[in-house]
Amino acid sequence: MSLFDLTIDAQSGHARATTYQTAHGSFTTPLFMPVGTHATVKGIMPDMLKQLQSQVVLANTYHLYMRPGVDVVEEAGGVQKFMHYDGPMLTDSGGFQLFSLDHMMKVDGDGVSFQARDYDGSRHRWTPEANMRIQERLGADIAMQLDQCIGYPAEKSAVAASTKLSWEWARRCCDAHVRPDQALFGIVQGGMHLDLRLESVNRLATIDKESRNQGGRGFQGWGIGGYSVGEPHDVMFATLGQVARSLPDHMPRYLMGVGNPTTLVRAVREGVDMFDCVLPTRTGRMGTAFSSTGRMNLRNARYTHDFTPLDHECTCPVCTQFTRAYIRHLVKQGEMLGGILLSMHNIYFLTDLMRRAREAILADAYEEFYAAWMASPAAKDY
Ligand code: GUN
Ligand code: ZN
Repeated sequence: MSLFDLTIDAQSGHARATTYQTAHGSFTTPLFMPVGTHATVKGIMPDMLKQLQSQVVLANTYHLYMRPGVDVVEEAGGVQKFMHYDGPMLTDSGGFQLFSLDHMMKVDGDGVSFQARDYDGSRHRWTPEANMRIQERLGADIAMQLDQCIGYPAEKSAVAASTKLSWEWARRCCDAHVRPDQALFGIVQGGMHLDLRLESVNRLATIDKESRNQGGRGFQGWGIGGYSVGEPHDVMFATLGQVARSLPDHMPRYLMGVGNPTTLVRAVREGVDMFDCVLPTRTGRMGTAFSSTGRMNLRNARYTHDFTPLDHECTCPVCTQFTRAYIRHLVKQGEMLGGILLSMHNIYFLTDLMRRAREAILADAYEEFYAAWMASPAAKDY
């Protein structure tokens, strides 16, 4: 298998089981990727990530660019060396952060100027070319194009403008991206409008083809952005399947920023391969656990004398060693181990869900897996 080849191992309905090759080893899909924004999955040692069945870790270009700075990460030998994690990594471009955080920001055709209010208030300017250079220096295995993600609801004309800007930047990212051991994913936008989504897909496919015809590398995968921005679930699913399946099938499809277990199970059924979200770690730090019987808030007094594991069906390092009563005590006391243990369990919950989804696809039984999940008590927290 050569670099960035996608093998489709099995298909069950539209659900896919695939294997993708990166310079730091291969990963299998369906796949949930935990988020390590600042080159750390909060509270989790890199060794532990492997024990939690995590295969790919995300980091964020905007945040690493602001602190510690690209030069520091590059001097360390890249983001993997810097954080002492030797598996596959992906950097999001930072477009999403620029457009969603409170930045004094001005977009023009050529790029985006912003003031980093959440850091030192300093002023910066990114063009697609500059962003590609930054991601090449950070050195993750997969880079994402610089894009513009619009909120929900939004005027269709505004969605159309951001979609067009995103494919124009896709072409410039594609032309500027030269690092051979790093993949570049284009990002589909288009809000909740099927026509805009399909136009976005067609434009990206054309950019990919033209790049290859001119001796370039095109894209090596697809991000599906602009969802999970406040819309109801069914509004996303009204277009997601058609969007996913209109993408070329020999490259991975990555639904960005989605981590609700039921959304993952549904999106895999629509042909999506990869996901990332802060949900398991963020809710874990707040005292919440995913479980096969639904979400649990460990602050609840009902767990005070409960000496059973978080989830009876879970085989993670937390559920095999600790009780609900102990974790509740840690959370109530504000002990940092509480958030760490819940983050560990929640990451495993999603990675193991995707492992079981893959097994079901390999057995051509995804419909049964889907029906069993939707009928389970865990699906009610959707
Ligand atoms: N993370 C979640 N959604 C998006 C998106 O639309 N674009 C980018 N770059 N990252 C995201
Ligand atoms: Zn567990």
